Amino acid sequence: MAKKEANGQETGVVRGLGDVVAASSRLGNVDGIAGKLWYCGFDAVELAQRGTYEETLYLLLYGELPTARQMDGLVGEMTRCRRMSPAMEQLLRCLPGAPTPMEALRTAVSALSATDPSPLDKSKEANVRRAVRIVSQLPTLMAAHWRLRQGEKPVEPRDDLGHAANLYYMFHARMPSGVEARVLDMCLILMAEHELNASTFAVRVVCSTLSDIYAALTAGIGALNGPLHGAANTEVMKMLLEVDQAGSTEDYVQGALAAKKRIMGFGHRVYKTWDPRATFLRQVLADLGGQLPGAHWHRLADEVQSTVFRHKQLYPNVDFYAAPALYGLGFPMEMFTAIFACARSAGWSAHVLEQYDDNRLIRPTTDYVGSINRMYVPIGERRA
Ligand SMILES: CC(C)(COP(=O)(O)OP(=O)(O)OC[C@H]1O[C@@H](n2cnc3c(N)ncnc32)[C@H](O)[C@@H]1OP(=O)(O)O)[C@@H](O)C(=O)NCCC(=O)NCCS
Repeated sequence: MAKKEANGQETGVVRGLGDVVAASSRLGNVDGIAGKLWYCGFDAVELAQRGTYEETLYLLLYGELPTARQMDGLVGEMTRCRRMSPAMEQLLRCLPGAPTPMEALRTAVSALSATDPSPLDKSKEANVRRAVRIVSQLPTLMAAHWRLRQGEKPVEPRDDLGHAANLYYMFHARMPSGVEARVLDMCLILMAEHELNASTFAVRVVCSTLSDIYAALTAGIGALNGPLHGAANTEVMKMLLEVDQAGSTEDYVQGALAAKKRIMGFGHRVYKTWDPRATFLRQVLADLGGQLPGAHWHRLADEVQSTVFRHKQLYPNVDFYAAPALYGLGFPMEMFTAIFACARSAGWSAHVLEQYDDNRLIRPTTDYVGSINRMYVPIGERRA
């Protein structure tokens, strides 16, 4: 929507860049009216139902689903890249203060550039290798940082586990059940890519200057960490815990809306209906019932969802059902956004490659509304 001046004239400014088309892309495609999401033309929900995160990563990086041989190649490369170097472990041990998982991850991705095996190679192949290396290592770094923070030793990845199962294993130091590994894999697939959302836009802006993929993903993690974007999942869990404490969903929701609070996990810039990722996760959680711990939180989430809809006709987004899913998998809520970042690193990396392929510096302009032609007065002559 264009911004209006005091006299009612339109300025041409589109606040928040809503509906502005800023890039061509073959990656994510959102139909906000139908409530559909595609990755390179494939229904993201079907990928979550039938595919793996590794296949999704391949699809996003290369534009095609892999053959069995190509999949073996990627899985082998991810296995080789997954281990953390002693230098990175040292970095995580030395971080000052008590950084949150997202602060640690942001710093770690930035630091990974210093250990790039071929920093001068700017070819597409080198950038694909970098993307696989970053995506593979993020869960290792995230889990190691969390464990170090708890005074525990990092757990090394296992070569016989896939990406999602490894994330679970390195964090919890125990094997996931088949259901747990599958649900986590589905969450990672659903969070892997989402068109030109705020963090992906940040990523594309950074690499449009021909800065490197590490800088771009560092910016992506920074942008994801706001509660209006990726950190909404943590806020959702806080809310569910509060609702549980308050005892009445109806009173809680009514009170929050009356106080004009944003209900986290609801609303979306593009979806004007159910976010298909939320619909799917909700169904998965309902179908699993007692097979996944945390059924209480899934039921409570459903109660909040119907109450919010009854009062304000807001639809839930992916974060609303990702929160109880991740909590049920035993992850503390402080981890949720970092897990989202691990998943989204696939989409971000694919956008970096796409931007490099057809780059033009992203440099919009402002509608200047400040003072003009002001006179410089020496400091000693200025009046308070
Ligand atoms: C995602 C979000 C930032 C999109 O916002 P947007 O497209 O800029 O829409 P706006 O912020 O302009 O909101 C439009 C209207 O809907 C309301 N609204 C939107 N989301 C809301 C929410 N979660 N709770 C309460 N009201 C909400 C706004 O208050 C506004 O109402 P108004 O016109 O009466 O002032 C917004 O829906 C939100 O803050 N959601 C909660 C955070 C969240 O879940 N983020 C994850 C997104 S995947």
